[in-house]
Amino acid sequence: MKALKSLLTFLLIMTGCFALQAAAADIQAGKQKAATCNGCHGADGNSSNPQWPSLAGQQAAYPSKQLKAFRDGSRKNPVMQGMAGKLTDADIDNLAAYFASLKPKSAGGDKKLAAAGKNKFSMCMGCHGADATGRGIFPRLAGQQPAYLARQLKAFKTGSRKSGPMQAVAANLSDQDIAALTAYLGTLQ
Ligand code: HEC
Ligand code: HEC
Repeated sequence: MKALKSLLTFLLIMTGCFALQAAAADIQAGKQKAATCNGCHGADGNSSNPQWPSLAGQQAAYPSKQLKAFRDGSRKNPVMQGMAGKLTDADIDNLAAYFASLKPKSAGGDKKLAAAGKNKFSMCMGCHGADATGRGIFPRLAGQQPAYLARQLKAFKTGSRKSGPMQAVAANLSDQDIAALTAYLGTLQ
C-alpha cells in the first residue's frame, strides 16, 4: 500500500511536470520572436526562396532540436548558428510552437520527376510518415522547398550534416534519386 501510494505520488508529480512543460511553450511570445526570422522563412512560415526551408506546420520537436544543434555548433550553418546563438531554451520552445501552429503551403516541384520520386518514397515512410508530414523528431518533408531538401540530403551523404539514420539512408541515394524524391516531396501538401 505504501509502495502504491508513493508510486501514485510520483506519477502525479510527473504529470504535473509534463503539464508545466506543455504550458511553458507560448505561441504569442514565439510569434514576437519570429519577427527576426520572417525575412528568410516567410511571414507565414512558408519560405519563397528555394534555399531557405519553410517552417510552417513543422513538428515542434524537430525545430527545437535543430535550433539547439545550431546553437551548440553540432549542425553547421553560419547564418543559423548566428541566429540560434542568441536564443534561450524558452525562446526555442516558443518559436517551435509558433511555427508548428502555422499552415504549411506546398512549394511545388517538377511533375515528371515527382512521379518517379513517389515510388522511391516508400523507403522513407517508416520514419517520415506515409504522407511525409513527420512525427516528433522526424521532420515534416511534405511541401518543403525541393532545392533545400536536396542540399540537406547531399550534406547527409557527404557527412557535413550529421545524423545517424539519415547519413545511412542518404548514402544509398544517387543524384537522380535525390532530384526525384525532393520534387515529389515539394508537390505534397
Ligand atoms: C538570413 C536568413 C535567415 C534568417 C534571418 C533565419 N534563418 Fe533559419 N535558416 C536559414 C537557412 C539558409 C537555413 C538552412 C540551413 C542549412 O542549410 O542547414 C535555415 C534553417 C533553419 C532551421 C532548420 C530547418 C530544418 O528543416 O531543418 C530552423 C528550425 C530555423 N532555420 C529557424 C529559424 C528561426 C527560429 C529564426 C529566427 C530566430 C531563423 N531561422 C532566422 C536562413 C535564415
Ligand atoms: C530510420 C528513420 C528514417 C528514415 C528511414 C528516413 N529518415 Fe529522413 N530523417 C530522419 C531523422 C531522425 C531526421 C532528422 C535528423 C536531425 O535531427 O538532424 C531526418 C531528416 C531528414 C531530412 C532533413 C529535413 C530538413 O528539414 O532539414 C531530409 C531531407 C530527409 N530526412 C529525407 C529522407 C528521405 C528522402 C528518406 C527516404 C529515402 C528518409 N529521409 C528516410 C529519419 C529517417
